[in-house]
Amino acid sequence: MARKIIIDTDPGQDDAVAILLALASPELQVLGITCVAGNVPLKLTARNARVVCELAGRPEVKVFAGCDRPLERRLVTAEHVHGKTGLDGAELPEPSMPLQDAHAVDFLIETLRREPAGSVTLVPIGPLTNIATAMRRAPDIVPRIERIVLMGGAYFEVGNITPAAEFNIYVDPEAADRVFRSGAPITMLPLDVTHRALTTRPRVEAFRALPGRVGPAVAGWTDFFERFDKEKYGAQGAPLHDPCTIAWLLRPDLFTGREINVEIETEGRLTLGMTVADYWRVTDRKPNVTFIRDIDDAGFYALLTERLARL
Ligand code: RIB
Ligand code: CA
Repeated sequence: MARKIIIDTDPGQDDAVAILLALASPELQVLGITCVAGNVPLKLTARNARVVCELAGRPEVKVFAGCDRPLERRLVTAEHVHGKTGLDGAELPEPSMPLQDAHAVDFLIETLRREPAGSVTLVPIGPLTNIATAMRRAPDIVPRIERIVLMGGAYFEVGNITPAAEFNIYVDPEAADRVFRSGAPITMLPLDVTHRALTTRPRVEAFRALPGRVGPAVAGWTDFFERFDKEKYGAQGAPLHDPCTIAWLLRPDLFTGREINVEIETEGRLTLGMTVADYWRVTDRKPNVTFIRDIDDAGFYALLTERLARL
C-alpha cells in the first residue's frame, strides 16, 4: 500500500527534483501538491509546481495555491539563488494543467479530516506558512497527521540566509514555531544533512545522460542552482536540499539522526529564525523532532538517478 503524502513546496529547483523523485516512486501516493510563497512569490511557485508535474508526465496531479506571505512578516524571497522564475536553468513550456480552485490550506484540512487518521504524511519543503495556517484554523487535524517530514533549519551548519537561520524557517519563524510545538511527529532534515548531499560533476552528468527530458532539465537546474553555493562555500557542488525528504521516506536507512528538542527563535535581533537544537540534551526540554544529521550521499544519488530514469 503506497504511503499517502502531500508535498508543500516553493519550487525552486531543488523542490522540483523532490517532486520528480516522489512522482517517480510507486511507494508514494502524492495526494496533492500545495504551493507556498518562498523562493519566489506564490504566483510563480504555483506555476512552477505545474511545470514540474507536466515534465513528469503527470498533468492529473492536483496542485493548489496557498499562502502568499508569512503569518506576520513581509515575504523574503531567494531569486538570488533560484533565478527570476525560480526554475532558471531549463527552458520548459508554460503549464496547461489547471491550478485547483480550492485554497491549499482548505485542501490540507479537508484531506486530513477525510483520510483515516494517521494515514497522511506531510512533506513541507518551503516556509511553513500553509501548514501552520491549517493547524491554527483546524487544530483537530494535528493528531491525524502521520508525520511531518520537513526540510528546514540548521544547527552545526548554521544559517544560509542569515548567519543564524536557514531560509525556510527564516521566512516564517512564527509558522515554524507553531509546527515544531504542534506535537505532531516530525522528521527534520536541516542543512546539517543536506550540505552532505552535494552534487558533483559526475553526478550531474549522470542526470544529463538520462533518456528523455527529465534528466537534462534536472542537470540544467542543478548547473544553475549550484553556482550560488559553490561561490559562497567554495564547495565542489551544491546541496540538493529538498529531495532529501523524499529520499528519507523511501530509504530511511540512508540517513542517521537522533530524537532531540528543537525550538524556533522568533524574537532574536541576530538569531531570528534559528532552530535552537538541544543536540547534547543540556536542557530538560522534551524531544520533539528526529533531527537527521548524516546521509549516505552516494546511495542518495544512486537512488535519485535510478528513479529519475523511470520518468
Ligand atoms: O534553505 C534551503 C531551502 O530553502 C530549500 O527548501 C530551498 O528550496 C529553499 O526553499
Ligand atoms: Ca524549497
